[in-house]
Amino acid sequence: MKKIRVIHGPNLNFTGIREQGVYGTGTLSDLDNCIRQRGELLGLDVSFYQSNLEGELINALQACYYEEVNGVIINPGAYTHYSYALRDAIASISIPTIEVHLSNIHKREPFRHQSVTAPACIGQICGLGPDSYLLALTYLANL
Ligand code: DQA
Repeated sequence: MKKIRVIHGPNLNFTGIREQGVYGTGTLSDLDNCIRQRGELLGLDVSFYQSNLEGELINALQACYYEEVNGVIINPGAYTHYSYALRDAIASISIPTIEVHLSNIHKREPFRHQSVTAPACIGQICGLGPDSYLLALTYLANL
């Protein structure tokens, strides 16, 4: 069974509380449940991790290497826009990784238009709410 790890970055634990007009009213556990259910349908072993700390996210990515995870879905939150350390961690694990965002970062403030982490990923899916994650999951299932 393919192992997929979903990694949520800073402030994603506040989904459903913060800026509901941008991120919706569903909580992070609603989102994880939705991904878990789809994972079951696709026959995947899906696990979840969230941290607000950059170093912890790097540790979580390195754990994926040691645990021989087959695919990673990461929402790096605001680290997307400036964390070279996270980008290097994604590049170093050599595991197919997809960057996802709930919101469309390209139609928001200019500082969100750049992703320094996406070049280390297979691709980026953004702006589709929870479907950003579900589409990434389907892609990794078919890899
Ligand atoms: C986000 C977009 C980022 O710009 C922002 O900092 C977040 C959430 C998203 O999922 O839309 O925290 O990654």
